[in-house]
Amino acid sequence: MHSLLALLAGSSLFCSQALSASIDGLKSRSSPLPPSQDPWYTAPEQGILVSSPPGSILRIRPDPFDLYAAVGKNLSSASYNILYRTNDANEIPTFAVTTLFIPTGATSSGKDRHNLLSYQIPYNSPTVDASPSYALATDLSSTSSDIAAALEQGWYVSVVDHEGPKASFAVGVVEGHAVLDAVRAVTQSSSSPAIKNIGHGHKDYKWNVGLWGYSGGSIASEFAAELQATYAPDVEITAVAIGGLPTPVREVMKSVPNSPYAGLIPLALWGYANAFPELGDYLLSRLTPQAKKSGVFTKAHNMTVTEGFVFYNNSDPFSYFINGREDILLSPLINSLLERQGTMGKHGFPTMPMFVYKAIADQLAPIEGADALIEQYCGYNSVVGSAKGARILYERNTIGGHLAEELNQDASALAFLAKAFNGQLGDGWPHGNGTGCVVKNVAVGNDTSPDW
Ligand SMILES: *[C@@H]1O[C@H](CO)[C@@H](O)[C@H](O)[C@H]1NC(C)=O
Ligand SMILES: *[C@@H]1O[C@H](CO)[C@@H](O)[C@H](O)[C@H]1NC(C)=O
Ligand SMILES: *[C@@H]1O[C@H](CO)[C@@H](O)[C@H](O)[C@H]1NC(C)=O
Ligand SMILES: *[C@@H]1O[C@H](CO)[C@@H](O)[C@H](O)[C@H]1NC(C)=O
Ligand SMILES: *[C@@H]1O[C@H](CO)[C@@H](O)[C@H](O)[C@H]1NC(C)=O
Repeated sequence: MHSLLALLAGSSLFCSQALSASIDGLKSRSSPLPPSQDPWYTAPEQGILVSSPPGSILRIRPDPFDLYAAVGKNLSSASYNILYRTNDANEIPTFAVTTLFIPTGATSSGKDRHNLLSYQIPYNSPTVDASPSYALATDLSSTSSDIAAALEQGWYVSVVDHEGPKASFAVGVVEGHAVLDAVRAVTQSSSSPAIKNIGHGHKDYKWNVGLWGYSGGSIASEFAAELQATYAPDVEITAVAIGGLPTPVREVMKSVPNSPYAGLIPLALWGYANAFPELGDYLLSRLTPQAKKSGVFTKAHNMTVTEGFVFYNNSDPFSYFINGREDILLSPLINSLLERQGTMGKHGFPTMPMFVYKAIADQLAPIEGADALIEQYCGYNSVVGSAKGARILYERNTIGGHLAEELNQDASALAFLAKAFNGQLGDGWPHGNGTGCVVKNVAVGNDTSPDW
């Protein structure tokens, strides 16, 4: 069975045997509560929350699962859960959590520049118990190779629970804020374990920050990139690697009924309802009597993405509503939310180097949406002048579908980030003369599988 999580695996640094042995080792060690039941995951008192600027560290603990040991003690010396202040989609103060891995052999590039990878896992679920800080303990093997590969380069790695404490799956502004404030927490706060690890003697350090995300993870990374200039001008982002962009989310909803990924519809609708409760009321009011009785739609509210794919496999989730797809796709409430929160390119103009990758045959998230986004960003260059414009390499892969692309371009994304951190992109990237966008069709990778 495919799952987006399972397909995150890229270069395999570890034999899975070694990995499962160490995971077993840590399972017996402790069994922390899931976030929905763990008091550690609650907001501090309102006064403290409101008075702390975004990115402030509010709580910190050694990661109770010792995920660093499962990834490899030779690569990572410690992992921490960090709870920090952020803003929700309505700019109301809230919090989010990131898991920070400390590299054993921290490297710096250039003159005391340390490297941080902000890595977004597509956990795609409206339940907070699917947050990576908790779920990685049971499902680490699928993502550990990217985390391990980054640690092996000597990078700090921050794995953000980017949907926030309400599990606002696919709500772009929530996710973008969570990513940017996690970068602040790790790189700016004196209580950050990364800064402590660098040591007090190093006052002049700077950070290279890379964002990376595929599919659901690209929503978080891309929204962070476009929100950076207005929401976090103090955060300097060195490079962004995003693949499988599911934009606009509305088009994904039109594509996946009766496919293996039909579950994305109920999961995303609950993700939005978590952030905007009036949507939950609307959805419940539109259910057919049968769907109300069976709970076939409401069940999705606490499913992981894997559970959702299995349960809704090849079904039509629109059929649970009185007027079918019209109740969703023609709802003014849903369309206004999806326009602002589920469509990339509405909040700003990213100018940091970006590597964007997408399978031409992506059926889950048709490529037209990514094509249009890149055209929009690159089109600004003629307005703002190319020296201040977008710098994007956009590769459209002729091989494989949405799920295959994650593996097919995994190594390229990592290599791009490494080049950016090491100052090897050069001022000329991507054209050689320092400007504009390069859009090209490529044939990369050996996973040819279509989505369905
Ligand atoms: C880390 O340890 C694992 C398992 O012992 C080994 O396979 C891997 O090559 C080591 N990696 C490094 C960078 O030392
Ligand atoms: C979902 O919620 C129901 C009802 O609260 C509970 O019985 C079930 O265990 C939950 N499932 C998951 C995966 O959390
Ligand atoms: C969906 O159903 C098809 C056909 O029965 C099956 O081959 C596939 O494994 C199922 N996928 C999931 C995620 O359950
Ligand atoms: C940079 O190179 C590209 C591709 O050759 C070209 O389209 C663009 O006009 C050049 N820009 C400048 C400022 O020379
Ligand atoms: C596919 O490519 C990956 C990564 O380059 C490689 O590890 C793997 O062996 C290849 N698989 C096949 C069947 O060629």
